Amino acid sequence: MANIINGKAISAAIRAELKEETEAFFKKTGVRPGLAVIIVGEDPASQVYVRNKRRACEEVGFYSEAYELPAETTQTELNALVDRLNADPAIHGILCQLPLPKHLDENEVILRIDPQKDVDAFHPTNVGKIMIGDYSFLPCTPAGVMALLERSGIDITGKECVVVGRSNIVGKPQAMLLLHANGTVTVCHSRTKNLAEVCRRADILVAAIGKADFFTADMVKEGAVVIDVGMNRRADGTLTGDVDFESVAPKASFITPVPGGVGPMTITMLMQNTLTAAKQAVN
Ligand code: GUN
Repeated sequence: MANIINGKAISAAIRAELKEETEAFFKKTGVRPGLAVIIVGEDPASQVYVRNKRRACEEVGFYSEAYELPAETTQTELNALVDRLNADPAIHGILCQLPLPKHLDENEVILRIDPQKDVDAFHPTNVGKIMIGDYSFLPCTPAGVMALLERSGIDITGKECVVVGRSNIVGKPQAMLLLHANGTVTVCHSRTKNLAEVCRRADILVAAIGKADFFTADMVKEGAVVIDVGMNRRADGTLTGDVDFESVAPKASFITPVPGGVGPMTITMLMQNTLTAAKQAVN
């Protein structure tokens, strides 16, 4: 049976470190890191994320503002809010929760957020920096995965790393971070041939496709490290990842549960980025 990577505990440990760092920074500079979160419309999942982000800010001692805008908000109104937050010295990080309602252009918002306040690291400037390996803002979910591996004592150098999923938020930046950590990286997606066979090569398998219980024991090598980025709801309403935990766990050496694995880490990395943004703002 695999070691279960406890994302909740690792996340709590990192948040405790961030809280200390935040207090020390405040004592030295009088500046409290500030995060603004924007949410448009009433997507229930997004509302949960926003609530969790506000709680995390309180936990580490940040100032936070939440803008819960109606679904019919126009692009002009949203742009004006971003412009105002870009100019606000009390705000060091701006996050606009995605997805946005269909009539709004996500790309326009991503481009409008000041790259120095882009704590999601979605702006092309920050994406480019991640690509070349010289970056201060971490891509939150992939960085959360890296922190879980590191704090579980898992070495990446020379390992076969298979990332399944090629989104801009997870798959692509995840591949980059594993590459920077000297992994041998393969990125798979919906058009990959012989997916099971490629997955079976993995020493470290990162599942990020958004399909409930998709990865089964036959797709996993004995002793592999299995990281489940999925967060799906089954027909019966229960939460599950992309990995069929029951069948895969006995075969893996390490595995992340859902919930309580990668999920809590994403927001913790966002907190880390917000502190970094505040530090850079006073420099
Ligand atoms: N929606 C789902 N994940 C994320 C995220 O990490 N950042 C933002 N802004 N929206 C999301």
